[in-house]
Amino acid sequence: MLEEVLRFFAPRTGETALDCTVGWGGHAVELLRGVGPEGRLIGIDMDAEHLEGTRRRLSETGLPFELQHGNFAGVQQILAGLGIGQVDMVLADLGMSSMQVDDAGRGFSYSRPGPLDMRMDRSRGRTAAELLASISAEEFATQLRELGDEPEAELIAAAIIQALSRKRLESTDELARIIVEALHPEQPAGKWRVHPLTYKWKTHPAARTFQVLRILVNRELANLQQLLRVIPVVLRPGGRAAIISFHSGEDRLVKIAFRDGLRSGVYETVGEDAVRASEQEKLQNPRSRSAKLRWAVHK
Ligand SMILES: C[S@@+](CC[C@H](N)C(=O)[O-])C[C@H]1O[C@@H](n2cnc3c(N)ncnc32)[C@H](O)[C@@H]1O
Repeated sequence: MLEEVLRFFAPRTGETALDCTVGWGGHAVELLRGVGPEGRLIGIDMDAEHLEGTRRRLSETGLPFELQHGNFAGVQQILAGLGIGQVDMVLADLGMSSMQVDDAGRGFSYSRPGPLDMRMDRSRGRTAAELLASISAEEFATQLRELGDEPEAELIAAAIIQALSRKRLESTDELARIIVEALHPEQPAGKWRVHPLTYKWKTHPAARTFQVLRILVNRELANLQQLLRVIPVVLRPGGRAAIISFHSGEDRLVKIAFRDGLRSGVYETVGEDAVRASEQEKLQNPRSRSAKLRWAVHK
């Protein structure tokens, strides 16, 4: 949703932009061009593994920027460490990047065999395997229902915990197989993806479970709640915030925080409805079908 983000921010020369989820720098490079040589871009990512590539990409502009490995929940401390108090723009493009999903070694994908890790920051925290080894069937079923809207939450949680009673789960393909066998014992090798152009995608039986596990492993909702609390503090008067989410629970948090901020007078304006990806983008990038962009302007 690059165009939509740039249209809303309309970055001006000399401004400071903060990209809380810099990823490979797709948004950041355009924000950097917008703020120009007198401006500044700060990019943060919890995942250190692609930051060097992003640094090279941003360097090609010849414009000034800072990249930091860190969690956006700690954005105030990160900015303070750089001697920056407030910024003009805050962007967060939540969730995971295609580079993370495509790298089987990270364990995010149900369709690529890899270790059951799923940490965006591999220097800390519990892996998905460790989390599953310590959760009860009841608790996991609750998370699958509440975070993943998974209609078969109990069945999936019971199958996983039963498998864990026999041996520890270490790989994504083992986990995906357990889920598929529990839900579709008659069709364990079924075809789950229909051509994207038809828009008729059959969700893979393990998709929701993998998403819930990733959200839990990376404490994604708690991080977002903390970011939403500090955005009004780090934005200058008149500063703009834009958040892109891919999950209904995240979108709800953003919608409520912006609405409450408008009511309490923290924000001057907030977008009434979420902005969705264009039809063209949805065709080119199927993941954008679930993207929702919400924005707010500080008083
Ligand atoms: C959808 S991608 C962002 C892509 C980016 N906008 C671009 O143009 O390349 C999301 C990124 O956010 C990072 N991320 C997720 N949660 C984070 C957090 N709490 N703090 C910092 N980065 C986070 C992920 O590691 C991932 O690289």
